[in-house]
Amino acid sequence: MKKLVVVTGGGDCPGLNAVIRSIVKVAESTSDWEIFGSMEGFEGILSNPPKLVHLSQEKVAGIHVKGGTILQTTNRKNPMHYPIRQINGVWEYEDISDQLSSKIKELGFDAVINIGGDGSQRISEALYLKGIPIIGVPKTIDNDLVTTDYTFGFQSAVNTATESLDKLVSTAESHHRVMILEVMGRNAGWIALHTAIAGGAEVCLIPEIPYSIEKIVERIERRYKLGKGFATIVIAEGAKPQNGQVTSGDGDLHSEHVRLGGVTFTLAQQIKDQGCQAEIRETVLGHVQRGGVPIPFDRYLATMFGAKAFELVQKGEFGKMVVLKGNQFESTFLSAVSKSIKLIEPDCFEIQAAKSIGISFGD
Ligand code: F6P
Repeated sequence: MKKLVVVTGGGDCPGLNAVIRSIVKVAESTSDWEIFGSMEGFEGILSNPPKLVHLSQEKVAGIHVKGGTILQTTNRKNPMHYPIRQINGVWEYEDISDQLSSKIKELGFDAVINIGGDGSQRISEALYLKGIPIIGVPKTIDNDLVTTDYTFGFQSAVNTATESLDKLVSTAESHHRVMILEVMGRNAGWIALHTAIAGGAEVCLIPEIPYSIEKIVERIERRYKLGKGFATIVIAEGAKPQNGQVTSGDGDLHSEHVRLGGVTFTLAQQIKDQGCQAEIRETVLGHVQRGGVPIPFDRYLATMFGAKAFELVQKGEFGKMVVLKGNQFESTFLSAVSKSIKLIEPDCFEIQAAKSIGISFGD
């Protein structure tokens, strides 16, 4: 039997289990592959003894409806920037990807499927260049991976965010308030844009279009003057004012990223300072967007991605990531994925259309 290991590193997202299940089911029905899972990203492979789980049909039965990952995960142990505590107690970072690729070979794996976001796919690319037969599967609620139209998990996050916005509308209306909803997405505004359009927000603020506070207040006041009596704003956590900075929380030890969050409070204060008289309330949606049951579209996407990834394994087409292009499941080279992230073009059709239906981007 050939051996394949599945890895789910980085932040979790709805649909991970559906990919795992799909790989196991397709593998068992079509070939003589034995499927394993590495616990907590690559930590399972690096641990001594290794923390691996044999993924049988029984083990994956029914998991496509569950959120999170049965393999657990971490986004603090990137093998290319691995935290190692020195004798003096100070943390230093090392690239241990050589050690990891040796471990993968030692354990006798004939293939690796790495389900992850941009950081994880950079690791896939590095391992591929070290001779590891690896395939990537694009995962993230942020939808910011280049070469694929959608990552799985994104639509579930938009679903959760839109349901929340709908709820905020009814309370905003009752109290004549301005409600600000902060959503995730890191440096990309995809979740905010889709939520604002789907939920009918008046203002949508995204990292790709730095905002002017005057323009936002103008839009709110115009709405109140029309007698609408309330307004909703969707803001992406990475949004920032023109000539300003992103709002970040506390520094996060061992994270590759600055931890974003709290821009809704910055914005509320800026709106008040601009003289807006409306009462404002802030909601930070946070990890609710990452948890819970994947919506049907994400279960479908994740299942297709899993099947396509295994097809590439069987064909020996390594060094690639599966993608959705239109309605076709295809693949691209990892080298094309790992160099940039997919951001919203400020003059794209969706932004123009959103502006035409009255959404202000604060520009
Ligand atoms: O990349 C997914 C994501 O949820 C981002 O939208 C967010 O900024 C980040 O992860 C949060 O990371 P953590 O779970 O480490 O707080």
